[in-house]
Amino acid sequence: MDKTYITTPLYYVNAEPHLGHTYTTVVADTLKRYWQSIGYDAFLLTGTDEHGDKIAQAAAASGSSPKDYADRISALFRSTWDSCGIAYDHFIRTTDDYHKDYVQKVLQRIYDSGDIYFGEYGGFYCYGCERFYTEKELVDGKCPDHQKAPEYISEKNYFFRMSQYQERLIETIQAKPDLIRPERYRTEVLAFLREPLEDLCISRPTSRLQWGIPLPFDANYVTYVWFDALINYVSALEHRGAESLATFWPKAQHLIAKDILKPHAIYWPTMLMAAGLPLYDHLNVHGYWVMDSGKMSKSLGNVIRPLEMKARFGMDAFRYFLLREMAFGQDAKFSEEALVTRINADLANNLGNLVSRVLAMQERYFAGVVQPLSASWTTEDAALRDKFIQAENELKGYMAELQFHRALESIWSALDHANRYVVQTAPFTAIKDPAKQVRVGEVLHHLLEVVRTLARVLAPFMPETALRLRELLVVDERALKNPWGEGFVAGHKINPPKILFPRIETDGKK
Ligand code: MSP
Repeated sequence: MDKTYITTPLYYVNAEPHLGHTYTTVVADTLKRYWQSIGYDAFLLTGTDEHGDKIAQAAAASGSSPKDYADRISALFRSTWDSCGIAYDHFIRTTDDYHKDYVQKVLQRIYDSGDIYFGEYGGFYCYGCERFYTEKELVDGKCPDHQKAPEYISEKNYFFRMSQYQERLIETIQAKPDLIRPERYRTEVLAFLREPLEDLCISRPTSRLQWGIPLPFDANYVTYVWFDALINYVSALEHRGAESLATFWPKAQHLIAKDILKPHAIYWPTMLMAAGLPLYDHLNVHGYWVMDSGKMSKSLGNVIRPLEMKARFGMDAFRYFLLREMAFGQDAKFSEEALVTRINADLANNLGNLVSRVLAMQERYFAGVVQPLSASWTTEDAALRDKFIQAENELKGYMAELQFHRALESIWSALDHANRYVVQTAPFTAIKDPAKQVRVGEVLHHLLEVVRTLARVLAPFMPETALRLRELLVVDERALKNPWGEGFVAGHKINPPKILFPRIETDGKK
């Protein structure tokens, strides 16, 4: 069976799950479900990134030990994804013992091969941020966060010979045009690689930071948090067994936003080269969600929480909005107004009305019993089927390129067509003429095929809705896959309609 391995970033435990984390995780879940639906063995990994300065500081600020603090927030991520119905296969924490062991193994391997050396590093160090700044990053010679001039310090540390891999990395990216996608991010990475690549400082002295994985070859140092966290993508598979590692790893599809492009496009592939491991298959990079009021932040009070969205609008409606509104790769605006508009127009009106109309007519005219389909279809019948076949074909292409909004557009264009078919065939008028009863039965049969097709194609995007559609039609998963016209046998009884998406009044209440 073909395999695919989908990963989200490991989220820092210094913030609670919000819209940004949810988007990447929902995309990962949608991809996993999609690849499974076309017969792939798909594995989804997510988890939390728990070491380093940032976390140690956040823990201290909340008055807990780093471990207790990380336990709490990590559990929150996990339970949030559970409540959101995210079908992850493994949840990794960088504090898991197997991960720490594996990171040390990789470090030792790279050290033994001579790609890690001990050296002195001098730079502008901000004690507030606990990190070095380059001159370019300083604003008027000061740390932009703390408004203080950093101190020039020099410190002994371990370095990874990243510069050695520059040429090989450029060649690799050039040889595989969709390794980093969409194109704009590949271009950005190649532009960055036109400048000489520096070696990467991969340690922090324990005199300054203890919250990290000790270097296996020097107990006075812990591992730099990115060097630790990136390895999760491999350590999680290794933990599942050699077979998982060998079969899933080369099929890795990383999902990230543009904020962490550099570590994933530069550090990570060079680390893999040094460790003698194959490269990932794709690095998929999306844009940022921005609020009307600017950046999402606690102090502005505009942080969007997934569970609140789920409680107010339903998880599937929220998923639909995220996937329909953002063109993968570009930034998108989040506003509740836009969310409500989409729910009302696309879900309540277009999708919801069609389904309830069809099921209501089936119930009223034929007591829910599916009527036979004759062999002779009208041009309208064939056009309806063809439109859905076309949508499903387009969807395949768009999903391969992560163009979720286009995939949904194709489905909705077919839905528009189905709504027009109802108007053209007017079963609600025809039923009044006893001579046309058989034809009405056929028209509704075709429309039930529409609903069955929807239950299949919407499943990766809106899994709960797809399940509800399937339950309304009383079909099992296997029957869902049958070609058009072979989904139902005459005499099959379906259920009466239920409201799928209630209209939302503009004050935000249902
Ligand atoms: N811990 C690192 C990643 C290590 S991966 C080995 C990290 N964590 S993070 O918590 O800051 O998560 C960053 C990721 O969260 C982004 O790459 C993106 O997936 C998601 N998002 C956070 N805010 C976002 C938006 N406003 N918009 C879209 N996604 C963003 O970086």
